[in-house]
Amino acid sequence: MQASPARAQQTVLEQELSLQMLGVVEQAAIASAKTMGQGNAKLSDQAAVESMRAEMDRMPLRGTIVIGEGERDEAPMLFIGEQVGGGGDAAPAVDIAVDPLEGTNLCATGAPGSITVLAASEHGGLLHAPDCYMEKIIVGPSCRGAVDLDAPVKDNLAAIARRLDRRPDELVVVVLDRPRHQKLMQDIRATGARIVLIQDGDLSAGIATAVLGTGVHAVMGSGGAPEGVLTAAALRCLHGEIVARLVVERPDVAERVAKMGIRDPKRIYRTEDLAPGQSILFAACGVTEGSLLKGVRFFGDGVRTQSLVMAGAMNKVRFVDTIHVAPRPDARVRFR
Ligand code: FBP
Repeated sequence: MQASPARAQQTVLEQELSLQMLGVVEQAAIASAKTMGQGNAKLSDQAAVESMRAEMDRMPLRGTIVIGEGERDEAPMLFIGEQVGGGGDAAPAVDIAVDPLEGTNLCATGAPGSITVLAASEHGGLLHAPDCYMEKIIVGPSCRGAVDLDAPVKDNLAAIARRLDRRPDELVVVVLDRPRHQKLMQDIRATGARIVLIQDGDLSAGIATAVLGTGVHAVMGSGGAPEGVLTAAALRCLHGEIVARLVVERPDVAERVAKMGIRDPKRIYRTEDLAPGQSILFAACGVTEGSLLKGVRFFGDGVRTQSLVMAGAMNKVRFVDTIHVAPRPDARVRFR
């Protein structure tokens, strides 16, 4: 069957854009990896933000940041609503969600799992979420429709186990290691399921639930809402599921939520509500070594990065291994 001209044009755009996005996350990863282990999370984040912003301005598009470093008054760059991209009026308009460095502390301490992340869609394709907490349950494709945010933990784990044809004690659940998750951890342990506690980075863990062979069956607990939207963008491409609700307990958060046009702060969102776009593109690059992506490796003749680039409508999931060869005539490229 032949694709319609509009669809063919969209495919070209997605292909071009995903390659450009790859360049953006790679450069941000290299910039922040240079600060690895310096013990300065702000510096690591700043390196990624500045790089991402400069690279995006070279892209021939008209982008609007919908998930970024914060609201205009608190972030000098990549703030929500900021216009990015070097395209003129005729360039395609896209909404962009960024987490320039997911796991800033991980990078600053040289711990595994920090990544640079970018997602894009047509206008309106990614929820404008405030920078507050979000309750989340994240599962892979086999468990779509099996979990309920208001159900007891044991019921959700029993449902996941049934879908995966395992016992609950054969499940692995990732939880952010935070005091607010004490009760959640007790409830998970009571079912016999095993827990991987992470210091940071529920976005990578969320992606891992939807990739077979990672050994992660679910992510539970509350984390950042922006990370929730980016997770949803990735899961649209991997057919996993996030079920989520904003945590709106303080009046100032309620005010920010209302300012973003969210009428029902208690709404339960599923993957397609957080990332409803027809064309969803997602790119992430490893900064420090991780279970899904290798970290940035510097060597005499260049730098090597590993990235994940996905385009939902094109059904493409690419793991991209790039050697950024040093600009010298005698630079050598190694196989491994
Ligand atoms: P940053 O990289 O922005 O520091 O976020 C890391 C992270 O661990 C996210 O993965 C997670 O969603 C969020 O922080 C959890 O927030 P908190 O550290 O306040 O519990």
